[in-house]
Amino acid sequence: MRHHWKRLSSILIAACMAASLAACSGSAAPADNKEAVSENAAGADTGAGDEAAPAEASAAPSQEAAAPAGETAAAAVEEAAAAGTGQAAADDAAGDAAADAATTAAVVADEGEPIDHVDYQVLVNKLHPLPKGWEDVIETVHMTNSIGDDVEVEKTAYEAYQQLKADLEADGIYVDLDSAYRSVEEQQRIWDDFTQKYGDDYTRKTVAVPGYSEHHTGLALDLYLIVDGKDIVENEDLITYPEIWEKIHEKLANYGFILRYTPGAEYITGYAYEPWHIRYVGMNEDYSTNVAMLISASGKTLEEYLHAVPVADDVTIDYGTSSVFSEDERKDAAVQVECAFASFEGCELHSLRYAGDEACTNENLEWINSISEDTGTKYTKVAEFLTDFHSPVHEEIQAAWNPDQEYKDYQWWLGQTEDGGWDVVSFGY
Ligand code: DAL
Ligand code: ZN
Repeated sequence: MRHHWKRLSSILIAACMAASLAACSGSAAPADNKEAVSENAAGADTGAGDEAAPAEASAAPSQEAAAPAGETAAAAVEEAAAAGTGQAAADDAAGDAAADAATTAAVVADEGEPIDHVDYQVLVNKLHPLPKGWEDVIETVHMTNSIGDDVEVEKTAYEAYQQLKADLEADGIYVDLDSAYRSVEEQQRIWDDFTQKYGDDYTRKTVAVPGYSEHHTGLALDLYLIVDGKDIVENEDLITYPEIWEKIHEKLANYGFILRYTPGAEYITGYAYEPWHIRYVGMNEDYSTNVAMLISASGKTLEEYLHAVPVADDVTIDYGTSSVFSEDERKDAAVQVECAFASFEGCELHSLRYAGDEACTNENLEWINSISEDTGTKYTKVAEFLTDFHSPVHEEIQAAWNPDQEYKDYQWWLGQTEDGGWDVVSFGY
């Protein structure tokens, strides 16, 4: 890594088990959490029962929804982290689970070609580790915040942050950086600290597994507030200023930032709403488009924007052809189905396909509009998708399903609004 201050050495020891990928997994985390290690961070009042509400009732994903083969890849990664991801931990416990996890991780980390440039739209989440070679290509700058802590930030993101900060100050809003770049070792310390203080469950919901934190990129910034000259750094205090966060969030896209963990998207991002965690995504490769503007105007998460909502590795997706919808529109619609499917606890998705333009009739449009009349949402187009999936083997998991049965051509009806947004309006036979 080229950087202006100290040399940051970091070995990516991702704690990744070679597991099959899960559908739209992600546990909804408590509403007020923050990963910074501080005396009072993430108190017990933000316990596991305090989950954020799902985005829509009709297709509400459950906490540990849709974990094909009984375990999500994300969960496997988290378990490996809990077992100890560090090489030292692995060495100390040779032959045990930690060592196995670290060994597997080393293999995973060694796969693929290292990247050769900073990708400002890089996706790092519960299922995507920091790309190999990242630390050799980023350039970071060092700053000291108002409480005297050292913070390291990717250079371009820092320049953008300074502009954002100046703009906010013109409006009487004062912010500073609590945390930005973190090495894998730092993230491990946070993970261990949280595990010790709050237990595994809470930690999984609020802290990324070392190697899988967006903070490793240097592009994720945790802000804190300075109100009436006082530093407000603790989660429970920060969340008491929603009106200030709203003003901050309104300006983010102007400087290439997005709010990364938006409310109601926990089942996609894997983390609860964090008003302080912003992510620099910048411009596209030829500098013609402000990607942050695109993402925030669409209301999408980064996962949705990148068409990277997690589904099982072996799911066959066929977007088909259409003269009604563009391929991007069909991909966006498919993402909604994948997310809705995440509520089918224990079900394993096998295939997902666009049903064809024949379904886009006025009659079907009227039908979905009549179903959703109460919501006041008006759809201008209708689309149908079909899925094949397998219901859970164990009777205690299944609710509406016959156990251990292959469901074929299961229908999903989606409405598209004037602005291009999709909703799953109905599903079934
Ligand atoms: N709190 C975020 C998810 C992290 O630990 O990276
Ligand atoms: Zn953060």
